[in-house]
Amino acid sequence: MKKPVIAIDGYSSTGKSSISKVIADKLGLIHLDTGALYRGVTWFALQHCKDENGLIDLNLLFSSLDKIQLEFKNNDGELVLYLNQNDISKEIRSNEVSDNVSLVAKQKEVRDFLLQSQRSLADKGGIIMDGRDIGTVVLPNADFKFFLTASIDERTKRRYHELLSLDIEANEQQVKENLIERDKIDSEREIAPLRKAEDAIVIDNTKLSKKETIEAILAYIQKI
Ligand code: DC
Repeated sequence: MKKPVIAIDGYSSTGKSSISKVIADKLGLIHLDTGALYRGVTWFALQHCKDENGLIDLNLLFSSLDKIQLEFKNNDGELVLYLNQNDISKEIRSNEVSDNVSLVAKQKEVRDFLLQSQRSLADKGGIIMDGRDIGTVVLPNADFKFFLTASIDERTKRRYHELLSLDIEANEQQVKENLIERDKIDSEREIAPLRKAEDAIVIDNTKLSKKETIEAILAYIQKI
């Protein structure tokens, strides 16, 4: 039987990636965290494409896209993102990347650059992909689509604790402001905005644990 293609979209810090990873393990699927790809491009831009004011020079980034090679490698069961052969899994979670990623992700050149590789990974089925535009743009024919949401206070708490667990300095108010700002840019951008696909199942997990969210998704998949 062909393994399913599952799209998980939703707001920042709703647990999309960690939930997708568990579901992938349970169902024997590949998991692709597409947010990590946008973060990887942003990290590259911060290293190599800054203007004299220290801001990202978008035109320089666009002309440098062919120098970016992103790949996930399996390190003891953990998928780790490499940029041009260097492990950048910690760097992509830094505050500097979080503060700049929505600007980078709203650029057509960047989205086009990442689109084809995301699609081709799903050709053979057996994948769960999480992001913002998976059910609407990247994989509109996915077998299952879910859209995760939760209150801003709950998401702030989760992101704050995630940063602390990664030994990254964090201030709860700044984390909240960054989430609000990113959600706004991601939802209002012209190309591939964050939006629920018409046929996606909405799961509000404000009051659900990670385990309960996973059970809700699996119950739906196994029911069909
Ligand atoms: O899921 P995340 O927070 O790691 O994603 C980082 C940013 O990347 C997010 O602010 C929006 C962008 N993104 C996107 O535009 N499209 C995707 N498919 C995934 C992420």
